[in-house]
Amino acid sequence: MSAVLLDGKAFAVKALAELKADVDRLKGVTGVTPRFVNIVIGHDASAASYGRSQKRAAEAVGVDYEFTFLPPQVTQEELLDQIKFLNDDASVHGVMLHKPVPAGIVFDQAVNAIRPDKDLEGMGVVNMGRLFMGQTKVIPCTPAAAMALLVSSGVDLAGKHAVVVGRSEIVGKPVIMLLLEKNATVTVCHSGTSRAGRLEDHVRAAEILVVAMGKPGFIKGEWVRAGAVVIDVGINAVDGKITGDVAFEAAVSRASFITPVPGGVGPVTAVMLMKNGIEMFKQHVGQA
Ligand SMILES: NC(=O)c1ccc[n+]([C@@H]2O[C@H](COP(=O)([O-])OP(=O)(O)OC[C@H]3O[C@@H](n4cnc5c(N)ncnc54)[C@H](OP(=O)(O)O)[C@@H]3O)[C@@H](O)[C@H]2O)c1
Repeated sequence: MSAVLLDGKAFAVKALAELKADVDRLKGVTGVTPRFVNIVIGHDASAASYGRSQKRAAEAVGVDYEFTFLPPQVTQEELLDQIKFLNDDASVHGVMLHKPVPAGIVFDQAVNAIRPDKDLEGMGVVNMGRLFMGQTKVIPCTPAAAMALLVSSGVDLAGKHAVVVGRSEIVGKPVIMLLLEKNATVTVCHSGTSRAGRLEDHVRAAEILVVAMGKPGFIKGEWVRAGAVVIDVGINAVDGKITGDVAFEAAVSRASFITPVPGGVGPVTAVMLMKNGIEMFKQHVGQA
């Protein structure tokens, strides 16, 4: 048996077309174009590459997406001033701060300075808190992308044993809440699980497996339960090639559905950023 691939590129094309239809309708009703700003400190290659995929997604859906580049030596105070400026600009509907930031910048403080109703990535404590209370449509983009692909498999998650490997704020923790919302039974693994020698046992029990470790090929294919749905969030550069956290070649013959890396969760992330932004725009213009 070979798993069905959950193709992120194809998913993204379809989802962007649906969002464009929504944006066209909203522009027709309001006469306003949604406008999002990405603050980038310094000008490094990764910002350019991540930013490019977001810019392409914005063009596909017909919204304005622009960068505010700040110099690498910018102070925290100057950054907070810039965020306040964008918070106060009524023509801006969503703001994000590109990560990583230079040493000396306190990322959490800056992200929490973004008004919650403009927090494009949903990473501030207000939106994270609302997510944990099941009260928000603004969801951090990578967990939202992982869930969207999982749901696209058509597998009913209710009562299924889902195992999440990784508990970062940016991926693992939001995924836990999103799986609970779908009534999955959730186990969370982390480095302590591995230290106790228990990771393989938990992975072997997973009907749904979501992995976000940042460790190339760490999850062995033979650990994957026959018929499991595998969502590999990992993006790791090994010998110039991008690879996931799951040993794909062996896992693909055991899983029922699996995300490839690259071409799985990654391409859907920018779609989810647009989805968040459009949701915020709707709230700003009274169309929610
Ligand atoms: N597709 C995308 O758009 C996208 C976006 C963001 C991230 N990513 C990728 O997703 C991966 C994870 O990113 P992240 O930001 O969540 O990473 P992170 O902040 O480094 O968190 C990694 C998590 O994995 C756990 N972990 C590490 N080694 C482990 C081990 N041996 N056994 C069990 N658990 C272990 C850590 O446990 P502890 O908590 O105990 O330390 C931690 O919770 C990376 O490859 C990253 O590049 C992809």
